[in-house]
Amino acid sequence: MSTLPNLSFFGKRVLITAGPTYEKIDPVRFIGNYSSGKMGYAIAEVLADMGAEVYLISGPVNIKIDHPNVKVTMVESANQMFDACLHYFDKMDIAIMAAAVADYRPAEFSEVKIKKKEEELTLRLVKNPDILSTLGHSKKNNQIVIGFALENNNELENAKIKLNNKNADAIVLNTLNNAGAGFQFETNQITIILKNGAIFEFPLKSKTEVAKDIAECVLKML
Ligand code: CTP
Repeated sequence: MSTLPNLSFFGKRVLITAGPTYEKIDPVRFIGNYSSGKMGYAIAEVLADMGAEVYLISGPVNIKIDHPNVKVTMVESANQMFDACLHYFDKMDIAIMAAAVADYRPAEFSEVKIKKKEEELTLRLVKNPDILSTLGHSKKNNQIVIGFALENNNELENAKIKLNNKNADAIVLNTLNNAGAGFQFETNQITIILKNGAIFEFPLKSKTEVAKDIAECVLKML
């Protein structure tokens, strides 16, 4: 007996960010982070399999996705990711911000490679736009915006603060305190906090299984 595919997200447009951002210092150097992009890509794949039209905005990663329902836009910096998100957001039903966006970028980009001279070198950094917060504060009533929070102290409290400050509908909390969870791992352990205060805790699972839990949760929110 063949089982029918689960197309619960058919007709839904979903914007997903994934991976790190690279903030250029000079032609050969950047500020980055250890995000692998695996979580965001797993969410893109799971939702696309469930019929969603997925717009994936990805920082530099070593993953390829080849799915008829996924349109990938590769970016490098937070500003580029921000512009790509603004380009699509109006037409989206759901936005899931799984990228590890750099909070700051170098104030100046040096066109020439910075030479080694003094014993100390100071880099001045300026704040990047907060993509999740911008989308959260501009969303319409029929749009759902979901963020991630990576915390290693006062996790639940900090995640709730993020949920409120960024006006998100839900926050997926990742803890850095669990072995096997977070950046670079194949597995993740999440807690989902909804705007209405409901909290759902999940055990350590593969990122694909975690993506399915997030999909289930979004379905309930729709
Ligand atoms: N985020 C974003 N744009 C930024 C920074 C973060 O869209 N410039 C999003 C991330 O994609 C994630 C959420 O905001 O969904 C939380 O990211 P996190 O780094 O945990 O929070 P920050 O706001 O950067 O706060 P802090 O680093 O001080 O904990």
